[in-house]
Amino acid sequence: MRLILLGPPGAGKGTQASFLADKFGLVKVSSGDILRSAVRSGSKLGEEANKYMSVGKLIPDRIIIDLILDRVSSGECDSGFLLDGFPRTKEQAVALTASGIDVDSVIEIQVSDEVIVSRMSGRLFHPASGRTYHVSSNPPLISGKDDVTGESLVVREDDKASTVRNRLDIYHEQTTQILSYYRDASSGSNHKVFSVDGSMSISAVSSAIESFLKP
Ligand code: AP5
Repeated sequence: MRLILLGPPGAGKGTQASFLADKFGLVKVSSGDILRSAVRSGSKLGEEANKYMSVGKLIPDRIIIDLILDRVSSGECDSGFLLDGFPRTKEQAVALTASGIDVDSVIEIQVSDEVIVSRMSGRLFHPASGRTYHVSSNPPLISGKDDVTGESLVVREDDKASTVRNRLDIYHEQTTQILSYYRDASSGSNHKVFSVDGSMSISAVSSAIESFLKP
């Protein structure tokens, strides 16, 4: 199984990616998690990435395309993968197709901007694993602690309301074009496209995606 999860910031891509990776034994390739890990490591890539991420802008295609294609074409993804956060521009989608890495399904999680802004204000994040919680809709078992490791949860730096608005603007300007690209049969890959209402409960969204993916 080779999947792409699309949707605005805060749509629930990371939440559903964790569910789908566990359910179907897929490797989760999250561009945001990879970049945040580079930022934490203090590497040159991380320093460069942070200039864009901290203000809600996209990392230049020249950096992200190689990073993700290297990961996906490494042996670890041979038994199936799920892309969360990539592609995000038409150039990234075209580069993925041109690399010869086919995907089976593109899943779009649809959520309105209003719902997203309120969701982001309650998000809690476990940096080491990428696990995501919400103070009211998806709280951790122990307040402020990751369910698996017990480590402290943090608020992401780019979840400030003004930065979230920037990220949404960029999504509407650049990322929505990708849907047309994948709906266009001539885009070179033999995949199905499925849109799900991401304002339903987390479990209802998971069930809808699971039903779509099951043969
Ligand atoms: P990235 O980490 O990919 O962020 P994003 O796409 O903006 O998405 P988020 O991680 O914010 O949200 P999500 O959809 O995963 O939602 P989540 O499941 O957490 O990217 C960050 C930055 O990295 C970008 O701004 C850019 O700078 C850079 N970047 C990354 N990829 C790039 C690329 N390809 N090219 C260029 N730059 C790139 O859920 C959100 C909250 O809602 C959580 O609290 C969750 O518990 C809750 N929730 C989830 N589902 C539901 C539900 N159904 N009901 C109620 N609450 C829910």
